[in-house]
Amino acid sequence: MTFYVTTPIYYANSLPHLGHLYTMIVADTIARSKRQQGIETFFLTGTDEHGINIERAAARNHRTPQEQADYVVSYFKKMTAAFGLDSLHGGYDIFMRTTEAFHYEGVGKFWRRVAKAKTPKGRDALYKGHYEGWFCAACAAYKTEDEYAKPTNPGDPPTCLIHETKLDRVSEESYFFRLSDYDQALLELYESRLDFVQPDARRNEVKSFVSGGLQDLSVSRLRSSVSWGIPVPDDPNHTMYVWFDALTNYITAIGFGNRQQNSAIGFEKFWPALHLVGKDILRFHAVYWPAFLMAAGVEQPRAIVAHGMWVDPTGRKMSKTLGNTIELDVLNEFFPTDAIRYFCLREMVFGQDGRFGYENLIDRTNSDLASGLGNLSSRTLTMIHRYCEGRVPSGNISDEGVLPAKRAGVDNDDSAIAGFVSHARDEFIRYFEELSFSRALEVAWSIVARIDKIISDAKPWDLAKDAGQRQTLNAVLYRAAETLRWLSVMLYATMPETSREIYSGLGLTNQVSNIDPKGLRWGELPPGTAIGEVKPLFPRIDKAKTMEEIGRQRSEVRDQKSEDAETRPSGSVQGDAETRPSGRVQGEAGLGTAQGSGQHTTEADAVAGVANFIDITDFAKIDLRVGEVRTAERIPKADKLLLITVDIGEEKPRQILAGIAQYYEPENLIGRKIVVVANLKPRKLRGYESQGMLLAASVGEEGKPVIATFAEEVPNGARLK
Ligand code: MSP
Repeated sequence: MTFYVTTPIYYANSLPHLGHLYTMIVADTIARSKRQQGIETFFLTGTDEHGINIERAAARNHRTPQEQADYVVSYFKKMTAAFGLDSLHGGYDIFMRTTEAFHYEGVGKFWRRVAKAKTPKGRDALYKGHYEGWFCAACAAYKTEDEYAKPTNPGDPPTCLIHETKLDRVSEESYFFRLSDYDQALLELYESRLDFVQPDARRNEVKSFVSGGLQDLSVSRLRSSVSWGIPVPDDPNHTMYVWFDALTNYITAIGFGNRQQNSAIGFEKFWPALHLVGKDILRFHAVYWPAFLMAAGVEQPRAIVAHGMWVDPTGRKMSKTLGNTIELDVLNEFFPTDAIRYFCLREMVFGQDGRFGYENLIDRTNSDLASGLGNLSSRTLTMIHRYCEGRVPSGNISDEGVLPAKRAGVDNDDSAIAGFVSHARDEFIRYFEELSFSRALEVAWSIVARIDKIISDAKPWDLAKDAGQRQTLNAVLYRAAETLRWLSVMLYATMPETSREIYSGLGLTNQVSNIDPKGLRWGELPPGTAIGEVKPLFPRIDKAKTMEEIGRQRSEVRDQKSEDAETRPSGSVQGDAETRPSGRVQGEAGLGTAQGSGQHTTEADAVAGVANFIDITDFAKIDLRVGEVRTAERIPKADKLLLITVDIGEEKPRQILAGIAQYYEPENLIGRKIVVVANLKPRKLRGYESQGMLLAASVGEEGKPVIATFAEEVPNGARLK
């Protein structure tokens, strides 16, 4: 038996964030669980490297598209290693890249198959036509009327509802996939396989979308408009639509269309896959992809499972502008990976949106992991060291032991706890198989609570003082240790490191990664086993201190990002600072530091709309002045920075560095009235002191800076208040 699980392949135009981490954690958990059951499993993740978006990101960063992709991939790989998701740590089996030669070959073959195919209605599945429509570069998709906002000024292009960026009017020759002929076949597929699209609510959504009728899909662009793409076989003037190329990765990765890859991995062996996707990309996976597969005569995926989105603790979408993003480097520095994994799986009811905030993460880590599982493990092992000379005691109570056990309120056999744990294990497995991780973990924690109560009620520390209670004491400790063994096996897929620590802490030497929770039998922990050293699993996190440190670090990262905007990876959730120019001289470091500087006492405050109000006295702390640009020049080797001097009514003009070089010619700035933050702490950037910051709006996806100015005459130095 084999199993194949995939994450989406991530766009190589920006650095990984929590959304990416989450899907990888889920896929990794599924893969580990299958492997534990002895099922040969293949786990794919990777990057989607073609298309106009990547081309544009590359151009912004003065890289070739391939360099851009390589750059993002190297960061992805670093990140997956840091979170234990790479092959070295037992995670993914392939980091798939759509720029691999074998992928080109495989997609080419797939295209040819589709090109030869007839639709269920007997027409050519692929045809050449002309397409005209509104195209969102960020979505890499044409937008229908309900997917864009109409412009306020007639004549302007509409705006993408997702990205809030202007759409491009695209009209060109294109290959079309005759999707409109597949509606019936798709509906039959959803009907005949009720678990094809999961969860049910999503399946209904997809069904109603398809029932509404499908439009043919443009699946190529002219090379002259999108050159960074896979050439259409036999028609090199066209490049493939990025989703056609990207979706096909799921089969080329395991060997479709390439002999070498096929013998290394095995298409027949692993296909079909379970595709994990965010709900935002469900349509591509549950409608387009099955239709392409039908045309190419390839078996359908095992299932398409859509998860929800992470939002902030107050329910708002995460975005850099709101400052409510979750940075991967911060997560990595302040939290154990297993705590992050646990939180992600416990907190998001699979399929629904989940709330993610540093404070929630600290609270859960402290309550469920430090005080819950971690404490259970350390107190059990400590007591075995203290009272049983470091060896797992026998749990049997002989006839003479029955009365004392009764007196202590302890069951004289372990059938009750064994029954409870076995039942919980069965429930746990059932939920896990349904991908209801949150429920499964709740059940596992009911075991923690149960055994905790048994220990607290029996009070081993008192039993140890009474020689007549030796057997009772041993029985309680055996039950605790055996329960821990079960928990470590059950929790391996979710928290691999912790599970290994607990398992080896019990003195067990085989690999917990190979033990199927289904096969657990009560009582198989051998008495006499010498237990290991007691290590605290999850030290308590000091919330106030950690929140403060996180705040500090986040603002430092922001400073750094703006300083090194051109070259440095940021690792933040929307870590594409390097692809986005900053609209302010010191990037988001200036006004943005309020969140990190302790002005907000809690993260919830910082992100909650209400608490985002500031007092007038807070505002009064910012000295905003009218200034006039006297000089402006470029800085060698800093493509984004301009060095300007500004007269703000002081004796000498201020020198300011502004990240606007890509959008403003220095000579056009001279004489302009601008707004300067005059009391910003001076700092050095690229060897120049910046003595303030100019204000600019940050416009569109690229964050294009537009300098704030005045319609009327204003004297230099006038205060804004
Ligand atoms: N390249 C395409 C996928 C092609 S698959 C053949 C793509 N890439 S992506 O990088 O934009 O997104 C990848 C995944 O990240 C999506 O599944 C998306 O749902 C997920 N997430 C992005 N933001 C997210 C959250 N805030 N929360 C959870 N997941 C989110 O789409």
